[in-house]
Amino acid sequence: MLCVPGWACAPQWASILQWSMPLLCVWRAGHSRLVEIGVAEGVSAIALREGMNADATLWLVDPFHLSRVRALNFTRRVARRTVKSCGNGTVAWIEKFSQDAVASRKEPIDLPLIDGDHLEKSVLRDWQEWSRFIRAGGVAIFHDARVFAEGWCTPEYGPVKAVDHLFRSTSSGEWTIIEEIDSLVVVQRSESAARNAETVLASR
Ligand SMILES: C[S@@+](CC[C@H](N)C(=O)[O-])C[C@H]1O[C@@H](n2cnc3c(N)ncnc32)[C@H](O)[C@@H]1O
Repeated sequence: MLCVPGWACAPQWASILQWSMPLLCVWRAGHSRLVEIGVAEGVSAIALREGMNADATLWLVDPFHLSRVRALNFTRRVARRTVKSCGNGTVAWIEKFSQDAVASRKEPIDLPLIDGDHLEKSVLRDWQEWSRFIRAGGVAIFHDARVFAEGWCTPEYGPVKAVDHLFRSTSSGEWTIIEEIDSLVVVQRSESAARNAETVLASR
């Protein structure tokens, strides 16, 4: 088992274990600008918060629209309480759909975790709209994006199909799969290709 300092304040051990790999990605690269698309009850969000730099910001994007009792919205309450259980860095809540939240995005991103709407077209849209903000050398993590032994993902899962389409069927040279564990796929942006894209972004 991985020994990770700070896990003592994490609320759900079994779920946190699932997120050990993204945590390590965050630490290894010293990322400071993180985005999570799809927060739900905050299990992966707290893993990211635990692992990020003390001066990092984590933007949490979720409209929390699935609650059966909208007025009470237990999912949002649990998410807020879970993410608050660790005081590391800064957290910014964006209670919007990712496709609306991206409109006001200006800052570059070191690491987005994509785990919102799981329809293939929605994952592809999230990728198209958010990936241009990822800095050179930055990484992105997809959840539920890989079929693995005794796992829950099927080849028909939206994130599985999207990742296959984006990174396995063709090779652009801009993005490389650098880690795969259980349902998680991590891709990294090459330094050179990203610099070209940043130049285009800056000139807009
Ligand atoms: C699978 S859950 C996220 C689980 C969470 N990342 C975790 O592992 O703890 C998906 C979440 O995505 C949210 N969601 C659905 N469509 C979305 C969209 N277009 N933009 C942002 N979040 C969305 C849902 O409200 C739901 O909370």
